[in-house]
Amino acid sequence: QVLYIPSTYPVIPRCALECDCPFHFPTAMYCNERNLHFIPVVPSGIKYLYLQNNMIQDIKASVFENATDLLWLILDRNHISSENIEKGVFEKLVHLEKLFINYNNLTELMGPLPMSLNEMSLIGNRLSKLPSETLVGLENLTALYLEGNELTSQTISGAFNGLKSLVYLDISNNNLKELPLGISNSLEVLYADQNIISSISSGYLQNLPVLQYLRISHNQLTDAGVPAGVFNLSSLLELDLSFNNLQSIPEVNENLENLYLQVNNINKFNISSFCGFSGASSRLTHLRLDGNHITRRDLPLEIPMCLRRVTMFLID
Ligand SMILES: *[C@@H]1O[C@H](CO)[C@@H](O)[C@H](O)[C@H]1NC(C)=O
Ligand SMILES: *[C@@H]1O[C@H](CO)[C@@H](O)[C@H](O)[C@H]1NC(C)=O
Ligand SMILES: *[C@@H]1O[C@H](CO)[C@@H](O)[C@H](O)[C@H]1NC(C)=O
Ligand SMILES: *[C@@H]1O[C@H](CO)[C@@H](O)[C@H](O)[C@H]1NC(C)=O
Ligand SMILES: *[C@@H]1O[C@H](CO)[C@@H](O)[C@H](O)[C@H]1NC(C)=O
Repeated sequence: QVLYIPSTYPVIPRCALECDCPFHFPTAMYCNERNLHFIPVVPSGIKYLYLQNNMIQDIKASVFENATDLLWLILDRNHISSENIEKGVFEKLVHLEKLFINYNNLTELMGPLPMSLNEMSLIGNRLSKLPSETLVGLENLTALYLEGNELTSQTISGAFNGLKSLVYLDISNNNLKELPLGISNSLEVLYADQNIISSISSGYLQNLPVLQYLRISHNQLTDAGVPAGVFNLSSLLELDLSFNNLQSIPEVNENLENLYLQVNNINKFNISSFCGFSGASSRLTHLRLDGNHITRRDLPLEIPMCLRRVTMFLID
């Protein structure tokens, strides 16, 4: 018996023995949850590689020798340490768009990285630094997830310079003293919860003219660290300053829709915080003030003129 395969038959990539490449999705190689201690050799033609939830400790360049078609590389929940990543291993993956190495044991990220990356996620590692050359030239990177590491303001200084397509940056749950500088003016989302930020530099948001979502909850902000007008940014829709140490409501732009201020030390309600900049009425729909020192009796009579749409939370 001879199996005849016509020459027009599409070329189906081979699959590593340890993994699964579904017949209807042959460019994906599923190697997740298999107790693997190593990365299997990746045949050419594979575009999507799933290696999460294994016991992988190192990344050797040889397994990717023919993997130049790779678009996604998912390595979450393994035991990879920085010193066990062979130098230059990612650089050869010239089409790689998504690199996920969440919940591993990385202390630093070894460049160079493929210039084709558009999304990189390194959540829950032990990264303590991000030298400025690491991310240099990643002009297509739009989303960068760095939460749950040990980064400090000093060790990430300059790291984001030149990421000219960056839209989403999450640096929550690190050891940052201030919001990072040098971020591209394309940024729309900045999450910096659970750090040790005590002040914001005057004019900081003027360099982020399309920012829509800003979260700085669970930090150490005080009134003294919030310069007048620092949140006067007309693109901003959501501002989360909950779980800080503010005593008054900062002035916000009338376009803001959600303002979270619960669990601070706020003891006065000044209507000009909401309608001070232009005098126009505010678009605010959610205002959380619970966990402060304000009761209904502290609310000024002008509220219906300025805050027409708001649902307010005051209960402790
Ligand atoms: C890469 O492909 C070449 C040519 O098909 C082959 O000779 C070589 O063994 C492959 N390397 C690996 C690591 O699979
Ligand atoms: C993490 O890396 C350190 C060395 O940098 C090593 O001592 C430790 O065993 C590693 N932990 C895991 C879970 O792999
Ligand atoms: C960036 O993306 C564009 C559009 O998808 C693409 O043409 C270009 O080659 C990419 N740049 C790099 C360095 O991969
Ligand atoms: C309310 O805030 C404005 C501007 O921030 C200030 O000029 C004014 O004195 C404040 N009013 C009260 C009663 O604190
Ligand atoms: C608020 O920002 C606008 C520009 O968006 C500017 O025209 C206005 O003067 C600013 N107001 C204050 C009080 O900073």
